[in-house]
Amino acid sequence: MKDLSIRTSEFTDSVIRRMTRVSNQYGAVNLSQGFPDFDPPKEITDRLAEVAGQGPHQYALTWGAQNFRESLAKKQEHFSGQKTDPNTEIVVTCGGTEAMMAAMMSVCNPGDQVVIFSPFYENYGADAILSGAEPIYVPLNPPAFTFDADVLENALKQPKVKALILCNPSNPCGKVFTYDELKVIADLAIKYDIFVITDEVYEHIIYEPYKHVYMSTLPGMRERTIICSSLSKTYSITGWRLGYVIANPEVIDRVKKVHDFLTVGAAAPLMEAANTGLQFGDAYYKELQNHYTHMKNLFVNGLKNIGLTFTEPQGAYYVMVDISEYGYASDEQFCIDLASKVGVGAVPGSSFFKEPIHDYIRFHFAKKDETLNAALERLADIKKLKR
Ligand SMILES: Cc1ncc(COP(=O)(O)O)c(C=O)c1O
Repeated sequence: MKDLSIRTSEFTDSVIRRMTRVSNQYGAVNLSQGFPDFDPPKEITDRLAEVAGQGPHQYALTWGAQNFRESLAKKQEHFSGQKTDPNTEIVVTCGGTEAMMAAMMSVCNPGDQVVIFSPFYENYGADAILSGAEPIYVPLNPPAFTFDADVLENALKQPKVKALILCNPSNPCGKVFTYDELKVIADLAIKYDIFVITDEVYEHIIYEPYKHVYMSTLPGMRERTIICSSLSKTYSITGWRLGYVIANPEVIDRVKKVHDFLTVGAAAPLMEAANTGLQFGDAYYKELQNHYTHMKNLFVNGLKNIGLTFTEPQGAYYVMVDISEYGYASDEQFCIDLASKVGVGAVPGSSFFKEPIHDYIRFHFAKKDETLNAALERLADIKKLKR
């Protein structure tokens, strides 16, 4: 057999999804891969049942059903205050995952560089390799996950840098970038003429007093921001694979082409059903925030009572726990032992860091109270892993 492609040899399978398999193997409460174990809003699933009978069941327009893009444009304008043209500025993709890949493919040539904050959502490393770009990492320093503006500038001023990827709110560290931090990034993006590709899939999962600021709304950033977002988290429909890219028409023309040949389009019946969610008023988003605040408080208060050290998340639904006192050289081994001996699934933090940091594991808490309570009950035994 001839050699397989070099590009697919350069990254491993997803550690996050691997840890789900480890959890399943040991019957652990799975707090590794981030997906809710509660139902999506009933209005959306009721509409899905209707759509099953009525259709559409055939291909939608490649870049997304007209009514769905119009609803997305309205929602984006409502929350960001920026008018968005549903015909020239939006492409609907198969999840935020495809949105990011299509954005990177549209922007990068082989040999270009992209700047990524570390810790980072693991897909970005693979996205960079598959789009031919070389990642440069800028640390978000734990435990507060702040960055050094000089280090960022040194990275951005490299001549081959095309884009910076900004995950806000951040998976895995739960950071919500402040306006001032975004302004530092924006000013540098303008100074060095680079794109900012945002991953805003957690834009509606924010804990008081933090606020989500859209990078595209900062002065001079509308034209150079490529927004990737998704319905997965906002409407608890991670399996529906609905995401989108919003950018200026020139970028979107390219994204449309990449998307057309990657996937042809998102699922027509699911767009039609999810369109119901896009019509929800402010009360829905407030309730979502309240629900997540409840889950966050339940889980982090439990961790506190057990005596674990962690950084309180400002947004998204993950918490990074410091395991340095447990005496493990390998956080992956710690997670395997945690699943097999304590009965809770987590993700080794090293899969998110470029730096050799092995002191963190990541839990997610988008779960029913009973699931979180069961996990906390088991975690009460975590000290037995101490070496
Ligand atoms: C930061 C981030 N971006 C993108 C995704 C994937 O989103 P989607 O389900 O829309 O592909 C996830 C899923 O966990 C995520 O955490």
